Amino acid sequence: MSGRGSWRRPANLGAAALILALGACSKGKPAPPGAPKPTIAEAWAAAKIPNLPRSPVVPARRTNVLPIPPRPGPPDNPVLVALGRRIFADERLSEPPGTSCASCHDPARAFSGSHGSHIGVPLGSRPGHFARRSTPSVLYLRFVPAFHYFEDDEAPAPEPRGGFFWDGRSDSLVELARQPLFNPDEMNAGTPRRLAGKIARGPYAQEFRAALGPSSDPEVILRGVGVALEAYLRSDEMTPVRSKYDDYVRGRATLTEQERQGLEIFKDRRRGACSGCHRMAETSTDPAESMFTDYGYDAVALPRNRELPASRAAASFDLGLCERKNAKTPSSDERFCSAFRTPSLRNAAVRDSFGHNGVYKTLREVVAFYARRAVAPDRIYPPGKKFDDVPAKYRRNINIYAPVYNRREGAPPPLTDAEIDAVVAFLGTLTDAPSPSLAATAAGSAPVAQSRSP
Ligand code: HEC
Ligand code: HEC
Repeated sequence: MSGRGSWRRPANLGAAALILALGACSKGKPAPPGAPKPTIAEAWAAAKIPNLPRSPVVPARRTNVLPIPPRPGPPDNPVLVALGRRIFADERLSEPPGTSCASCHDPARAFSGSHGSHIGVPLGSRPGHFARRSTPSVLYLRFVPAFHYFEDDEAPAPEPRGGFFWDGRSDSLVELARQPLFNPDEMNAGTPRRLAGKIARGPYAQEFRAALGPSSDPEVILRGVGVALEAYLRSDEMTPVRSKYDDYVRGRATLTEQERQGLEIFKDRRRGACSGCHRMAETSTDPAESMFTDYGYDAVALPRNRELPASRAAASFDLGLCERKNAKTPSSDERFCSAFRTPSLRNAAVRDSFGHNGVYKTLREVVAFYARRAVAPDRIYPPGKKFDDVPAKYRRNINIYAPVYNRREGAPPPLTDAEIDAVVAFLGTLTDAPSPSLAATAAGSAPVAQSRSP
């Protein structure tokens, strides 16, 4: 069942009301067959009746469970994981040397980061070269489903979900590694031959050959690099589930009053309604079911980041999902332009820039953006330039249905300043406690005892 579907398009309001009604009477019985479906107007009116209990931290309804169960996958191969960890931190691989995966995916920032850049997107291996988008965290990647269309009975059309990157353009961690390695604005590693040479001469050359087989074919070596990186990125140590929120779900921690309020607002369908897209399963005893994303796509319409080199050309826009090229599961339809993959909010508090274009530098600014976009756009966009990072012809794709911004300009904001602070406090509970293995990556490094999630 998709909460998001019901917020994206008006055709879904019936579904939204039904979900609310079911939740409110808690009988969970569907309407008898043949009973007339409510009209959009009736359903919307019903949805607005303040009939939901406002009790503190009620367990989420099971409807809030991810449609795709977390993929456990095969158990870790410790040899490959250790090798992947070393490759990830290997600064020799870039040109000029000095930039590793960990330079941008910084363990100290939950594997996101800017590599010393202050404009919102990370610096590459050469001065003045910047990646196109902000750096997502590479924790919890084992849960990212391959790109697919999710069929929901209530949605008017199947919804795109999953895939790696902000635009879902890759489904394979093995293949994906080539992109940062050879991107001239990221690691600029040159040719596969050059890279293979560095692996063959490197400090872990012997382990590499032992784990992946001897070969001098650069393509084979490059694939081995991908295999080791994938093993590392999907490993238990990259799936820490060690946050205060996780302990709260396990019954081992309590939230402060402010955090509790934030959680309530986060879920409240009339206020933040954040969990419609940043999905969680509060009743699950497995905190790993709550990744705070449904891996769906949405056109949130963040303001343009005028510090990006690409923003200098007025006609240049990052169109996200509709730029993705894939013949098997195409997403080039215009209605997908300006939509980006919903990021997990785990560890959001330690990021140094937010959104695909990195326009915001603090978490509070992002939450305030949601609270003000509809009611006070002049506080978000330059005067007279509402939705300035979405080309005019795609502005109809912008989500104006989610409860947090389905209000008129000038209406009272959906969240007060204190409520914004509460949501920020709650998001702070999603930060993972440091673990020994993360320290190992930071050190560049030798395998350590695996820290398994309890
Ligand atoms: C110069 C900074 C930089 C370096 C170095 C870098 N990355 Fe990234 N990484 C990014 C950015 C920016 C994105 C988002 C790109 C996009 O969505 O178009 C990204 C995205 C990713 C993703 C997708 C995550 C997701 O949630 O979909 C993975 C996986 C990844 N990088 C792995 C790596 C690996 C492995 C290396 C080393 C071989 C590496 N990166 C090196 C900046 C960097
Ligand atoms: C309709 C779906 C939807 C809803 C509702 C929603 N978000 Fe988001 N959120 C997204 C998408 C999509 C992005 C990425 C937008 C982009 O980069 O263009 C995002 C980005 C974010 C980010 C930036 C994270 C990062 O890693 O850069 C934060 C923080 C965030 N949302 C918090 C919230 C909060 C708090 C709420 C409730 C007030 C909320 N979101 C409601 C879909 C949603």
